[in-house]
Amino acid sequence: MNKNIVLIGPMGSGKTSVGRRLSCVLNKDFFDTDFEIVSKTGVSIEHIFDIEGEEGFRARETKVLSELSQIPNLVIATGGGIVVTPKNLEILQQSIVVYLHADIDTLLSRCLKSKARPLINEAEDKKQTIIDIFEKRRSLYEKSADIMIDVSGKRLYSIINEIKEHIEKYT
Ligand code: S3P
Repeated sequence: MNKNIVLIGPMGSGKTSVGRRLSCVLNKDFFDTDFEIVSKTGVSIEHIFDIEGEEGFRARETKVLSELSQIPNLVIATGGGIVVTPKNLEILQQSIVVYLHADIDTLLSRCLKSKARPLINEAEDKKQTIIDIFEKRRSLYEKSADIMIDVSGKRLYSIINEIKEHIEKYT
């Protein structure tokens, strides 16, 4: 099965960790759209938000997603906002899309561990911000997903096994 597997879901749902491990298990190469943006520009995501605003970041995100989607046999982790750009929803249809869903407290505790998320860092009430962003995007995640996995409270190996079981149906 040559199709790419793309992980979507909110900030803190574990797309990068799951994607990296999944790629090893499935013997595919791994890419992360945020890492690609950082490596292409040589600056941090926060810096791009500061200089170009969210709009500039979204344009870069679409370019990277579109380029990666032309390479077969990848696992691609995306940023939590990948679904807000209509063009990305079209591009995602070429791949098997796995939506990692997590409860709000799981997302909050993971987001608090990292300072690299401009949409959360500057918020006074971080939990409410995570809820608000999630509510705006929830239906887009659901609409784009071929497979939905609830990752709350689960260990990495069991998440990977669940995804593998679902993916086998596509082969
Ligand atoms: C964003 C999520 C981030 C990153 C950027 C914007 C979002 O990625 O792309 O800060 O809009 O949800 P993660 O989901 O990997 O944190």
